Amino acid sequence: MIETPLDKLIQGRKSIRKYTKDTPPEEWIKKMILSAMKAPSPTNSQPVRFIRILSPELKEQLHQAMEHGRESLLEAIKNAPSSKRLKNWVNAYFRFSEFMFLAPVLFAVGTTSTFVSLSERLFRAGMREQGHKKHRDVDIAVGLALKGYLLKGEELGLGSCILTAPLIFIEEPEIIFPLKGVEIKCFITTGYPDEEPDHITRKDFNEIYREM
Ligand SMILES: Cc1cc2nc3c(=O)[nH]c(=O)nc-3n(C[C@H](O)[C@H](O)[C@H](O)COP(=O)(O)O)c2cc1C
Repeated sequence: MIETPLDKLIQGRKSIRKYTKDTPPEEWIKKMILSAMKAPSPTNSQPVRFIRILSPELKEQLHQAMEHGRESLLEAIKNAPSSKRLKNWVNAYFRFSEFMFLAPVLFAVGTTSTFVSLSERLFRAGMREQGHKKHRDVDIAVGLALKGYLLKGEELGLGSCILTAPLIFIEEPEIIFPLKGVEIKCFITTGYPDEEPDHITRKDFNEIYREM
């Protein structure tokens, strides 16, 4: 089968966690955001926000909050059953978070709370028992936006990695980010790759695909 340019981008992309020190051109980062912005969203609400973290003070504050979160977690699980395994998990998640502070480009990605689904409106009007799991729609929008960002970066020769592990340690990043009405969903790092990790295997097609 002939590989199209899109196939190559999709097949070639992998998460990159180690970067050279160089910062990619601003124009490229803008192109990646513009690509993210073309993603579909519920009722075209476009709820996704990319918050570039440039300030060294803010980074330091985040880093410290993460350290503090890790210490609190380790303290809390000290006497838990299977505490050794939990401790290993906590430390692994920390390792898979900390590299974000070395990335040339770091974004927090969040959603605005302005989108209210019909399901939520019906609940508020007393016509539904249960409130719509209100973050579901906007979370789909985040994923789609990130995919646009990642693929454009891949085309430009940049590597990226999405991170949610830091949110284990910083439960309320909104306290650190002075942004009203934006809920942080993840972080994303970008830069010129300084590693060549293997592709991570994917499940078999038949495990993913069903017909009914
Ligand atoms: C929602 C989400 C959260 C993720 N969080 C982290 C993270 O916190 N730290 C990390 O190193 N990688 C994180 N990743 C990257 C995944 O580990 C990676 O995408 C997966 O192992 C497949 O590898 P690949 O991207 O190289 O194909 C995350 C990916 C997604 C989609």
